Amino acid sequence: MTDTNPDPTIVEVDLEAGEAEKSFLEGKTTAVLAYNGTVPGPLIEANVGDTLIVHFKNSLSEETTIHWHGIRLPNDMDGAPAVQRPIAAGDAFTYQFKLKDAGFFWFHPHVMEEEQIRKGLFGVIRVRGQDEPQADDEKIVVLGDALLKEDGSFDDEVDDDMIMLGREGNVLLVNGRTMPTLELEPGALTRLRIVNVANGRFFNLALPGHAFRVIGTDGGLIPKPYDAERLLVAPGERYDVLLIGQGEPGAEIVLTNEAYARGHDTGEAAPMPLATVRIGEGPALSGRTLPDSGPAIERLPGGAADTTITFDERYIQGVLKFLVDGNTYPDVPPIEVERGSTHVFDLKNDAEMDHPFHLHGFFFQVLARDGVPVADDALANKDTLILPQLSTTTVVARFDEPGDWMYHCHILEHAERGMMGELVVSP
Ligand code: C2O
Ligand code: CU
Ligand code: CU
Repeated sequence: MTDTNPDPTIVEVDLEAGEAEKSFLEGKTTAVLAYNGTVPGPLIEANVGDTLIVHFKNSLSEETTIHWHGIRLPNDMDGAPAVQRPIAAGDAFTYQFKLKDAGFFWFHPHVMEEEQIRKGLFGVIRVRGQDEPQADDEKIVVLGDALLKEDGSFDDEVDDDMIMLGREGNVLLVNGRTMPTLELEPGALTRLRIVNVANGRFFNLALPGHAFRVIGTDGGLIPKPYDAERLLVAPGERYDVLLIGQGEPGAEIVLTNEAYARGHDTGEAAPMPLATVRIGEGPALSGRTLPDSGPAIERLPGGAADTTITFDERYIQGVLKFLVDGNTYPDVPPIEVERGSTHVFDLKNDAEMDHPFHLHGFFFQVLARDGVPVADDALANKDTLILPQLSTTTVVARFDEPGDWMYHCHILEHAERGMMGELVVSP
């Protein structure tokens, strides 16, 4: 996006949500919803500590809001239903907040999000820090999908399976495109900033002959990078990885989405191709190597759980409901915490499928899985986390910003059917 403010510490941009056309399938057009006419929306670039000002205009024929997923910000700028009245069709709103953290974040509506996001309303924000890892190249990888009919238009049908598992598209998209080509220079270090913006699909990435060196996640860089053969990315999650291009110049390999059993006997789906990766012609080796360590993160204190939140799903009078502590939002009683306090939660998933838990406005750290402490060097700041089926995950967060915050499952079909709650931080 074009920064219209001459002050180097202020990023000021114009953003408009509206209707547009896009071609996902060759020779066919799809009527999409888009930010500034593009899917994904335009990239916002800033440095840590900058102030971001977004002059937003709603040119849709319905209301919307913008939620800044993963950004720690004042409550009245969060764009969530509990705190911001939706912006009516034709109205405008200016968001303004400081970018406290370096990392890779995204933005999307938080009213009618199930439909507005899958139809194209999502964009990413890259916030650079003081100590960025060295790489020869850097690419943004926005993973998504679309359920399209023969004629290219969105299939809006909903059935129980789509509700149960989250809607999965029949077309896989990388940066809004089907099977794009990604160049990797042999021997060179390529950094990928990955986000999953799909409503319900989990991506489980594999690239033959390559491992992903994970150097960061939702809340920025991690102190102890690690290698992953498969990179599982749930809806809403981000990963920051480094790859060393391997192979003969000109060789082509395929980045695939591998099967992943996330419950309800989804079975072994065949790997699905996502993108062609082409090994480039050079340049000569940069001599850069994969980092073994990253910046330190302040570890939050652990302890016994202060609050248990239980997620489940059940048919209630023939209708599939997604529950938080036995209720559906907005009937879920808010959790109250004191400003400045550190709070430990047991996140209990009683369902027979994985649910990606997401908290607005704060990062959290995983302390234990089913009572077993996680390794010390797995420390990471998360805002979205897979809660495996029939298990309990213990996490800790510090609440330094007052207001009415939301937490929910990031499978949007579940969030809209009740799997959402509020967390109130006292002033
Ligand atoms: Cu991307 Cu309330 O979430
Ligand atoms: Cu969010
Ligand atoms: Cu869910």
